[in-house]
Order: sequence, then C-alpha cells, then structure tokens
Amino acid sequence: MKRDFLTIFDLSSEELERILQRTGFLKAHREQGRRGAKEQGNKGAVPPPPCPSVPLPFRPLEGKTVGLIFRKPSTRTRVSFEVGILDLGGHSLFLSSSELQLGRGESVKDSARVLSRYLDGLVIRTFAHEELEEWARYATIPVVNGLSDLYHPCQILADLFTIQEHRGTYRGVQVAYVGDGNNVAHSWLAAAGKLGFHLAIASPPGYQPREEVVIRALELAQKSGSSIEILQDPVQAVRGADVIYTDVWASMGQEAEEAQRLQAFQGYQVNRRLVEEAQKPAYILHCLPAHRGQEITDEVLEGESSLVLDQAENRLHVQKAILEWLIGEPC
Ligand code: CP
Ligand code: NVA
Repeated sequence: MKRDFLTIFDLSSEELERILQRTGFLKAHREQGRRGAKEQGNKGAVPPPPCPSVPLPFRPLEGKTVGLIFRKPSTRTRVSFEVGILDLGGHSLFLSSSELQLGRGESVKDSARVLSRYLDGLVIRTFAHEELEEWARYATIPVVNGLSDLYHPCQILADLFTIQEHRGTYRGVQVAYVGDGNNVAHSWLAAAGKLGFHLAIASPPGYQPREEVVIRALELAQKSGSSIEILQDPVQAVRGADVIYTDVWASMGQEAEEAQRLQAFQGYQVNRRLVEEAQKPAYILHCLPAHRGQEITDEVLEGESSLVLDQAENRLHVQKAILEWLIGEPC
C-alpha cells in the first residue's frame, strides 16, 4: 500500500518521531561526508552508512525518479528536494505545470495515472489542497505536499527538527505563532495535535486559522498532551514563549488582497518590542521568504536568536528522511 505525505495529520506520532530521528542521522551523515571529502581534497571520502547493513555508498533512491510539479514559485522547497533526491542516489525531474499538458487543461486524474507509470514519487506545490488530494487518489506512487493553500507539512517538520537541535527537544516547548492563520499555521496546529508542545497562535479577526483544523488539532492534543490557544493579542501569545514564529501576511495567490492585509495585520509585526514581551530569550523562526518591515523587522530576522537559515537548511535533511521513508529501499 503506497503512502502519501499531504499533512502532518496523516502520520502517527511515532512515525513523525522516527522521521525526525532519522533526519538527525542523515544530517550527520551528510556533514561527515562533506567534511571528509574536504579533508581529503575532495577525493571522495566515504562516511559510514546511515544503516549499518546497507553497502556503501548509501543510495536508497538508486534507480528512482521523483517528479516535482510546481504551480507556484519556490526557492527552498524546489532546491532542497532536488539536492536531497540526488544525495539519496535518485533522479529528480522538475515539471513546471505550465509546461505540462496539465497547464492546458489535462485532468489531474489522467496526469497522475500516466506519471505513475514513469515515476517513483511526486512532490507537488499547488493552490487548492483538494487538488493535492486528487493527485494522491489517482497516483499509484507516493505524493508529497510541497505546499498547498491549506498546509505546508515539510516546513513544519524542518522547524521541529530545528527546535530539537537548539533546545534538545520540541517536547514541552512553548511556540508562539504571530500572524496569518495560513498553511504554515495549519501545519503548526497539526504538529501540536500530534506531538506534545504548547502552541499559541495570535491573528487578527478574520485571519485566524480555519475552525475545522483547530478542532481536529484540539481533539488530538488531548492525547498528545499539547496545549493550543487561538488568540488575537500577539503580546499574550509571546509571553513566556521559547520560540516566536511568523510568516508573510499575504501568501502566494493572495497578492490582490495585499493592501487590505497590510492594514489588518498592523500590530502583528515581530519586532524587538514584541520579542521582549516574551520576558525570556526566545528563538525566532520564519519559513522564508520574508517581507522585512512587514511581518518581521530586519533587526529581529538578523538577530542572534534567529534560526531562519538553520530552518531553511533543515528542509533538505527532513525531506530526505521523508523520501527515504516513502520511496527508498528499506534498510
Ligand atoms: N519556505 C519555503 O517553502 O520556501 P520556498 O517557497 O522558497 O520553497
Ligand atoms: N504562507 C506562505 C508560505 C511560503 C513558504 C505562502 O503560502 O506563500
């Protein structure tokens, strides 16, 4: 039975934990390999394999091709997936939707069934989450969400791994998300539902996370021990926070609403004053790309508690763990 990764809700807590654990292994393995290669004048030093029983070199995606279908622009997601697939010994095919027959109206149903005959996996970035579900329904190969209007699960797994690297664990950590109740906020809610930590989301009226996502996360939180608060006041959200997170006020596809959103989000900027309201040192996270001077100031984004570059790097490592789990040869 093939598996997909469309939302964090799709995985059990144990599966999520295993992916995060595996991410650490794959990151250390890559760093060791690169260090070794440098020390030996790039003559191909071989690091120990991440699975002791697997012969070197470690290439769980050997002979496999993963298609990347993007209906929206991307820097991090596209490049980290392409590099990650190459690292795992596989081949990636970037398929801009405008160059596929899909862009001329071929159905998702036909595209998914045809591409499943050539490829071993699909990473899709699109608008409606329902379209992603349709891809997953008709494709006979695993489908990974590279961002939809509703969720951005790879991002939040990378964020959790980043928090774990810097704090030792994400368990019990207090995360304050200040801003739009968008795809990133929804994936934070799903993560809080599954894994035990505290999440406070502060958004202006009309821009809060979707009720059905909040309800689902709250139900799961009863078991995971997480606490979830949906607030309007950013100061209340950041008080006592270990991590302060924000994202753009107008996501891709919402460009026409930008002026209206700029107005609505006044008072929700993550700036020095707001960060000080945490009353203790807090890490700053942002999925990027950022609009400096809007949702976050340059000073905070560049400050010493900012982890944004580690977050971006960790997309690569966590996605390798996801691909290995979904598509790779088991080890
Ligand atoms: N954070 C993120 O997904 O970035 P890209 O849009 O550049 O892929
Ligand atoms: N919420 C943003 C995230 C970008 C990575 C968007 O969807 O545009």
